[in-house]
Amino acid sequence: MIYLNGNFMPMEEARIPVLDRGFIFGDGVYEVIPVYSRHPFRLEEHLSRLQHSLDGIRLDNPHSAGEWEERIRRLVELNEPEDQSVYLQITRGVAKRDHAFPKGIEPTVFMMSNPLVTPSRETLEKGVATISTADNRWLRCDIKATSLLPNVLLRQMAVDAGAAETILLRDGFLTEGAASNIFAVKNGILLAPPKDNLMLPGITYDVVIELAQSIGLPCEVRQVSENELFSASELLLTSSTKEVTPITSLDGKPVGNGKPGPVFEKLHAAYQTFKHSVMRRA
Ligand code: PDD
Repeated sequence: MIYLNGNFMPMEEARIPVLDRGFIFGDGVYEVIPVYSRHPFRLEEHLSRLQHSLDGIRLDNPHSAGEWEERIRRLVELNEPEDQSVYLQITRGVAKRDHAFPKGIEPTVFMMSNPLVTPSRETLEKGVATISTADNRWLRCDIKATSLLPNVLLRQMAVDAGAAETILLRDGFLTEGAASNIFAVKNGILLAPPKDNLMLPGITYDVVIELAQSIGLPCEVRQVSENELFSASELLLTSSTKEVTPITSLDGKPVGNGKPGPVFEKLHAAYQTFKHSVMRRA
């Protein structure tokens, strides 16, 4: 079951006009919210990032936080899996094609749910391969925009190279992955690029930094140089669906000893414990 403009319906019945600006221009924003045991994880934070994205594209929020929560919970109820990944998107709506904002139209609001597939035991034990390349995206990567062509092309580069993710560098510094945030470990210190216009402020990124602090793991939020990235003892990738995933190779070379390291093990354990404690309290 999906949600479209106020109605819940089977996916097959959903119709979007071809002139929707999401289709024509990629003129919209989105969120991906993980749902564990039917409880949306960090919902408030996802909704506040959604507001930031809407502000960034100058589109009014069609719903209050309470209305979003009600709709998301209903969608989760209508779908079978206990663990789901809720995708929501808002586009500027349907209008004759013209780049400038049309007047007096309603936004299109769409939500769907997929089974949440978190990293397999094998992925957690072996880690994933990555490649690196120049970050050629625009300068508002803090907006979670549906216009994802650069990210699509960057992720496909990884797939073509037999890797899981592409790590991006801008002016000699790490930004993020094509669809994830990236952390490096140097001298036992967790290094995280600062949240600015060059990366998406990940909800999982924030959780990982909070967990590092709570377990006494040294963490520095600062620019991470290309040299630090390539000489890191560990690299980690985070996102709502990938949680905390170890990276064990970069551009065909092993990261550290080529195995998931101790910082990953600690953060992974802390993430799982935290996730379950939040769900128990919900
Ligand atoms: N992507 N950076 C980019 C470019 C992303 O697309 C994502 C997530 C993240 C991680 O953010 P979060 O921890 O809030 O999921 C960072 C989602 C999952 C997607 O597009 O499917």
